[in-house]
Amino acid sequence: MVGDPTRGGYIFAITTGCGCHFNRDLGAPAGGNKFEGPFGVVYAPNITSDPETGIGAWSETDIVNALRLGVRPDGSQLHPIMPYMALSNLSDQDAYDLAAALKQLPPVVNAVPASELTAPPAPFTPARTPPAVAPTEGVERGAYIVAVANCGRCHTPRGANGAPDMARFLAGAPLQDTIAPNLTPHASSNISFLTEEQIANFLLTGIYDDGTPVEGPMKMIIDNGTSRLTEADALAIAQYLKSLPPVASE
Ligand code: HEC
Repeated sequence: MVGDPTRGGYIFAITTGCGCHFNRDLGAPAGGNKFEGPFGVVYAPNITSDPETGIGAWSETDIVNALRLGVRPDGSQLHPIMPYMALSNLSDQDAYDLAAALKQLPPVVNAVPASELTAPPAPFTPARTPPAVAPTEGVERGAYIVAVANCGRCHTPRGANGAPDMARFLAGAPLQDTIAPNLTPHASSNISFLTEEQIANFLLTGIYDDGTPVEGPMKMIIDNGTSRLTEADALAIAQYLKSLPPVASE
């Protein structure tokens, strides 16, 4: 399959441009950002097309396998900080389009230190086979974008083992010193009384209906991601959120 870099550029844009890889000093997704935790230390790799220090020598299929399965060309498993669980939902076409867009990122030389993990990451098998082509409209389109853009990373609560509690999908969760609100249409959530147009408008502009601008982590997601959605896609997300089974916030 051959990817279309222009269409892939849209996927890149609405999923926040692979922001974790963005190196502010170099002004490009040339990696180097450090993530530390009980798992050890992970450095975001250089994903520009430099053949030595980036992914310029990878084929589109190599990139697709890294995106959707979390495996490098040598077969080793990437740490799940890389959101391959979300990206495993990408349709074949969108995955190849995104790979083609990544291949077009101008090469930036930046050698990133090797990650130091306390244990090798577990192999990952996606729960379901992604579609050949993504849904194009309506609730299915909204569900697709929410899965790929990983909205659940903040809005879905986690169980005791740290894994997302899928029975409470998008039902809201504490986040640093704030809360990622409940996105299901439960009577206790804003989604229950906002119209689809109001929700879409918020995702496109970052301004609540009363004129207040959004702040904090969601501002980053809107500025670097959802503000670039087409109006139709923003509405599809709103339709999907309104269609979710209502779950009470905890
Ligand atoms: C990095 C964490 C994070 C991610 C990822 C994220 N959100 Fe949010 N979101 C938040 C936070 C925090 C708020 C609350 C903002 C505030 O208090 O003004 C919020 C607020 C919202 C609201 C307003 C809800 C209300 O009650 O008014 C909507 C709608 C929303 N997010 C949708 C999304 C969608 C759709 C995605 C995926 C494209 C997404 N969010 C991804 C953290 C996140």
